[in-house]
Amino acid sequence: MNHEAIAVDPKDILSPGTGSSRFVRACLRQPVDRTPVWFLRQAGRYMPEYMAVRKHHTLLEICRTPEIAAEVTITAAERLGVDAAIIFADLLLPFTPMGLDFEFVAGEGPVVHTPVRSFEHIQSLRTDRADELNYVAKSIEEVARHFAAPRPDGDVLGIIGFCGAPFTLASYMIEGGSSRNYIETKKLMYSDSAAWSLLMEKLVSVLIAFAKQQVEAGADVIQIFDSWAGALSVTDYRQYCLPWTKHLVEQVKATGVPVIYFGVDTASLLSTMRETTADVIGLDWRVPLEVGWKFVGDGCGVQGNLDPVSLFAPEDVLEQRVREVLQSAANKPGHIFNLGHGIVPGTPVNNVIRVVELVKEYGRHE
Ligand code: CP3
Repeated sequence: MNHEAIAVDPKDILSPGTGSSRFVRACLRQPVDRTPVWFLRQAGRYMPEYMAVRKHHTLLEICRTPEIAAEVTITAAERLGVDAAIIFADLLLPFTPMGLDFEFVAGEGPVVHTPVRSFEHIQSLRTDRADELNYVAKSIEEVARHFAAPRPDGDVLGIIGFCGAPFTLASYMIEGGSSRNYIETKKLMYSDSAAWSLLMEKLVSVLIAFAKQQVEAGADVIQIFDSWAGALSVTDYRQYCLPWTKHLVEQVKATGVPVIYFGVDTASLLSTMRETTADVIGLDWRVPLEVGWKFVGDGCGVQGNLDPVSLFAPEDVLEQRVREVLQSAANKPGHIFNLGHGIVPGTPVNNVIRVVELVKEYGRHE
């Protein structure tokens, strides 16, 4: 959202339901009229509208064509009735301007043709072409224009820009794709600290520029995906991941927007992840929300954490699980309702919509 265009009166920010975005207020742990809700991968293969677009375009074509990416983003947010729209893009897009070719192979996921395994290769990666990612900023501008006006309930939809965290992106660069044990990544990390540091620095410099473009285009919040940080021990996370991720978070926050920092399988890492200074930490579903929030600490919000596969459960079980998450958060300022990870293909769309209705019903704050 363009803050100037909306002209929000600062006093309204503290009084719920009066015009600005409840999603942004929740990220800042300010009072809200009800818990905001959105979903990781809300525009994805489970949704027939997305598949209809996907029939005519590859994933990368959608990402790189602002009109299509914006349309996919808007359609998903409106169909579900959520409080925030995450821009349709992908974590790996910065690889291209860095000089690393990749593609998405059906049934296999991302494939990097020449995985990064040496200091020389890391030296050759470029950091001076982040501007080439400005198609994402253009998509955000279109989405921001579309959602500029308040909705019937007076709330303005939040717009989320995103990027990967350096560890998770490095893992794709080094493994050449998805991985189970991250052997090549950890080998490089343990054996060549100069190479590892250089790779982290290069990634962070591109990611800061990329996130800034998104904020300037109208993103209200930036989510940083460290999807695979849970593969690290606390010691390794602290040594090989935290310093660079903290720098990224600080630089993104300096643009004036809240940062959500998300990972999976992170129960043991949560208090250390908090040291990045992110405003909100994403919780997966393996940790009870109130336990995760204790680890994260009071000065920070949490996002989550319904099991995405509970969306396949019968309605009474699903309702119970949604209410459990809300009760766990106890209406404390700073909870954003979400899944613990992305919606999976095959998820019934109506169940996703049902969750939004349930949060709207049971997530009201007095
Ligand atoms: O609404 C949304 O969230 C969609 C926007 C989005 C995509 N990727 C589009 C996409 C977002 C936020 C991402 C982030 C992303 N990309 C992550 C972090 C999220 C997480 O799950 O933790 C990761 C790890 C990637 C890299 C990536 N992209 C992988 C590993 C895959 C293949 C996995 C699969 O599900 O097949 C992708 C492909 C991808 N990116 C899809 C979508 C909708 C599905 C494939 C398709 O449409 O062909």
